[in-house]
Amino acid sequence: MSAKVNVGLVGTGGMGGRHAANLNDSVAAADVVAIMDVDTSRAEEIAARCGGAAVYGDADALIAAPEVDAILIAAPDRFHAGIARSCVEAGKPVLCEKPLATNVADAQRVVEAEVAGGRRLVQVGFMRQYDPAHVALKEVSDSGEQGRALVFRSVHNNPEKSAIRPLTDVVTNSLIHDIHSARWMMGEEIVRVQTAYIPSSPDHPESARFVMAQLQYRSGALGALECNSEAGYGYEVMVSITGETGVAQTSPLQSPVVRHSNARRQWVEQDWLQRFQVAYLNEAHAWVQSIVDGRAVGPSGWDGYVSILVANACIESGLNRVPVDVEVPERPALYG
Ligand SMILES: NC(=O)c1ccc[n+]([C@@H]2O[C@H](COP(=O)([O-])OP(=O)(O)OC[C@H]3O[C@@H](n4cnc5c(N)ncnc54)[C@H](O)[C@@H]3O)[C@@H](O)[C@H]2O)c1
Repeated sequence: MSAKVNVGLVGTGGMGGRHAANLNDSVAAADVVAIMDVDTSRAEEIAARCGGAAVYGDADALIAAPEVDAILIAAPDRFHAGIARSCVEAGKPVLCEKPLATNVADAQRVVEAEVAGGRRLVQVGFMRQYDPAHVALKEVSDSGEQGRALVFRSVHNNPEKSAIRPLTDVVTNSLIHDIHSARWMMGEEIVRVQTAYIPSSPDHPESARFVMAQLQYRSGALGALECNSEAGYGYEVMVSITGETGVAQTSPLQSPVVRHSNARRQWVEQDWLQRFQVAYLNEAHAWVQSIVDGRAVGPSGWDGYVSILVANACIESGLNRVPVDVEVPERPALYG
């Protein structure tokens, strides 16, 4: 590997564009040297912004390119698992946007490839793990100041107004963030879920504009996740942990509260790129540093797999209106 980590980027839409800019402009130890997108004009535009990175016609060629040390996947969800597995089989570190896969079997195959290679190479883009507000809340809970953690809650409001999304997509694409937070922040596994949802319209009973998932953890602790996929007014994420002697909660908004002209107002972020801009940057720094150090950090392939296992149970529960048990297999030694 050269002095810098040479990154190949697959997928250059909203998220890929942000990752490219973060890596290229703000992470001194990284260079974006290769780009692939089925939209070649967009790939060329991002390549030009990255100092003339090479543009590839397919992901396998980019992964195999000798000058590419590591890969960042920001293509649509359904392509993640296949590309991530190719990266693992090529022995190259990969930051794969969430979700690791859209179904359990595909996620399991990525984990199996990683275990077979005997080396952690996959980091999943659950960037809330790098958000200062989330990290601070977890530190309070982990300190024991509030006693044992009893209840995890999260509220996730997405701005889209008109898109009709199936329950499966809302859970595997959006609620998956909250599922990961629920595992990571409480530091234990979810064993049972019960999901209810409101369809976007009576003509589309399989669609979901609002999802509520109740969780039960192995210790008996409880969780409640709500995800509004059509909030219509902006983007907000709030998490809280109730302990035996107190409650810790993040502020859903970061902007100041302003009182003026007999009114009290607070600006609401437009989307995740605004709300989590620091988290994405911290994530990029941590990922590149982990490659320099040769020591994987952050949300692992195993976290990606278990989160889709829980997501799948949430979907089954919502569609069949029954509680569903989650059977998490024994964690392979590779994942500590
Ligand atoms: N971590 C987060 O907070 C967060 C936020 C938004 C999106 N995401 C994830 O990032 C990924 C991209 O989302 P987005 O909002 O940028 O979507 P987008 O639609 O804006 O961009 C997707 C890009 O992938 C390209 N593409 C399509 N098929 C491809 C293929 N087979 N190979 C390579 N490129 C292909 C498209 O041309 C497009 O440029 C998704 O998986 C999404 O879930 C994560």
